Amino acid sequence: MKTNEANYKKIDDDDIDFFVSVLGVDAVITDSESRQLYGHDYTEDLEFEPEVVLFPNHTSQVSKILTWCNKNSITVTPRGAGTGLSGGALPVYGGVSLSSEKMNRILEIDENNFQAILEPGVINQVLQDAVAEKGLFYPPDPASKGSCFMGGNVAHSSGGPRALKYGTTKDFILNLEVVLADGTVIWTGANTLKYSTGYHLTQLMVGSEGTLGFVTKIVVKLIPLPKHNLLMLASFNDPYKACASVAKIFQKGITPSALEFMERDAILFTMAYASIAHPMSEYTQAQLLIEVDGNYIDTLYKDCEIINGILDEAGATEVLFADSDFEKDKLWSLRRKIGEAVKAKSIYKEEDTVVPRASLPELLTGVKKIGVKYGFASACYGHAGDGNLHVNILKGDLSEEIWNSTIKKAIIEIFELCKSLGGTISGEHGIGLVQQEFMPIMFGENQLELMRAIKKVFDPNGILNPGKIFGR
Ligand code: LAC
Ligand code: ZN
Repeated sequence: MKTNEANYKKIDDDDIDFFVSVLGVDAVITDSESRQLYGHDYTEDLEFEPEVVLFPNHTSQVSKILTWCNKNSITVTPRGAGTGLSGGALPVYGGVSLSSEKMNRILEIDENNFQAILEPGVINQVLQDAVAEKGLFYPPDPASKGSCFMGGNVAHSSGGPRALKYGTTKDFILNLEVVLADGTVIWTGANTLKYSTGYHLTQLMVGSEGTLGFVTKIVVKLIPLPKHNLLMLASFNDPYKACASVAKIFQKGITPSALEFMERDAILFTMAYASIAHPMSEYTQAQLLIEVDGNYIDTLYKDCEIINGILDEAGATEVLFADSDFEKDKLWSLRRKIGEAVKAKSIYKEEDTVVPRASLPELLTGVKKIGVKYGFASACYGHAGDGNLHVNILKGDLSEEIWNSTIKKAIIEIFELCKSLGGTISGEHGIGLVQQEFMPIMFGENQLELMRAIKKVFDPNGILNPGKIFGR
C-alpha cells in the first residue's frame, strides 16, 4: 500500500473503480488539468493538487465515499466554489477533493415558516434571488456572493457587508444534514428558531471548515425582504476620522445595513482593475459606504440626515447619495471587487482582523505603525460597522527574504494587537491552512486541546480536511 508523507493511503486503481461504481465515470475526474484547477482556491498563489476530484449528486453517494475513504485512510477535502481566502479547500495531503458542485438544488422554500432547505452547492446569490421573488430575505452576502457556495458559507460562517445589522451565516442556519467521517448521516438539530436541546451540534458544525463532516443539506432562516434602501458615500481626508465616525452612528441609535471602509489605495487599485469611474478627490484618503434599509422610505431619509450630521461633525469632506439603482450597483461593484483588484496588483497577504467596533481607529493606527516598522505598504478595507478590517499587506518591492520571514513577525504583531483590543485573528475568512500557525496567539494549549479532542470524536482517523485549523 502506497502512502504519502503523512501516512494517508495514496489513491490506487481499486479506489478509482469503487468511486466510479458509486458515482459513474463522469463524476470521477483525474486528469491533470482538473487536478490543477481543484488544487487552487482564492488564497494567495497556493497550490495542492488532489489525486482525484469527485462530484457526488446525493447524500447517499457522499456517505458511500466517506465510508470507503475512512476505512482506507484516504483524505477527503470538501470543496465548494473555491472562493475561500484561508486555503480551506486545498487538499494539502492529496487524496479526494469532494466537490459539492452537483448538489446545487434549492429543495424547498417554506413561506409559512420563513425557511428554506437547500444543498451545499447552491450559490449564495441564487438563494437570495429565489427567496426575494417570494418577498423573503437571506441577508449574509460575502463579497463573492455571485459565485460562492452555501456549503462554503457554512464552513466559514461567512459574513459580508450586511453582517453588522443581520449577523453572519451562523445566525441563519437552523439545521444541517451532515455526513460524518465514517459515512453516518445525521441531522444536527431541528428546524426551529429556538433550540435548547443539548449541545448545539448545528452551531458546532458552522465554521468547522469541513473538518467535522460534509454538509449535504442546509436549513436556513429567512426574514421579510426590506422594501427600500439608501446608499451614501462619505469622503474623508483622514482615514482615522472615518473609522472614528463609525461607532458614533450606532451610538445615535441607527443600525445601518452596511457600513464599509475603503482606503484610498484600495479604491484606486479597483478603479484601475475594473475600469470603474468613481468620485474621489485628490485629497481623499478614505471613504465610507453606508447603507440603510427598511420598509419606510421617510424613516430611512431621516436616518440618513442624522448620519450625515454625524459624518459632518466627524470631519467628512463630502457626502454623496446614490440616486439610482445603477449608481448603487456601481458603488457596490467597486467595493466587492477590491479583493480581486488587490490580488491582481501585487503579491499580498490578506488578514481578516476584527475588533470591537469602537476600537477600529486604534486597529488601523496600529496596523500602519507596524507597517512603518517593518517597511510594508498595506491597503485596508472592510466591514467597519462590525470592526472587521481586511488588511492587505502588499509585497511590492520587498525582497523574497523579507517577505518570507520578517513579514510573519509583522503579522504576529498585528494579531497580538487585535487580541489586546478584545478582537481576534479572523472575522469571516476562517483559519484554514494559512492562519493556523497564528492560532496560539488566540488560544492556549487548553483551548487547542479541546478543539483537537472534538475533532477526534468526529473524525478519529483524521481523514476530513487534515492540516487545517490546528494542523493534523
Ligand atoms: C471582502 C472579502 C475579501 O469583504 O471578505 O471583500
Ligand atoms: Zn469581507
